[in-house]
Amino acid sequence: MLQRHKVLKNTCALSIKKTLMDKLHAHFIGELEKRAKENPENRLAYVHIVEPRVPSPAFGEGEHEYLEGTNDFVFSIWKGIVIRAGDYALNNTEALKDVNENDRTLLAYGRFFISNPDLVDRLEKGLPLNAYDRDTFYTPGGKGYIDYPNYS
Ligand SMILES: Cc1cc2nc3c(=O)[nH]c(=O)nc-3n(C[C@H](O)[C@H](O)[C@H](O)COP(=O)(O)O)c2cc1C
Repeated sequence: MLQRHKVLKNTCALSIKKTLMDKLHAHFIGELEKRAKENPENRLAYVHIVEPRVPSPAFGEGEHEYLEGTNDFVFSIWKGIVIRAGDYALNNTEALKDVNENDRTLLAYGRFFISNPDLVDRLEKGLPLNAYDRDTFYTPGGKGYIDYPNYS
């Protein structure tokens, strides 16, 4: 019974935290749009968002995967350019769907952009991708940034 109570308490806390965060994010995006409407010169060039299915680029593939959330709400508030990122290299169908949703969406690629200098070509042709070496992320020097091969 105590265990069940604890689980319920944690679930409630999580859902309150999520609702609060959703409201905060919507408020923040709303403020940016309001500022842009008041004076178009103040419109930011773009808003860059990372889909919540990637809680952090520091996690491995499929680790701590979060599949419930989406940043779709941003589009109903912010009327400018949006750059979306988050696992698109391995989800081409999702990438095409999101980029074709409207004419103000751009896609960004992080981890696989680093390990594939010819990423655009590979995605267009459906070629396999080089795996990335996570140990070289956020390290100084060229290793892991400029030494991945093109497809051959
Ligand atoms: C080594 C590395 C450095 C990054 N640096 C930044 C950064 O400076 N600013 C930023 O907004 N995102 C940064 N990111 C996050 C990526 O831009 C991207 O949003 C994230 O990796 C999710 O996209 P992905 O699934 O294609 O990797 C970085 C990611 C990696 C792997």
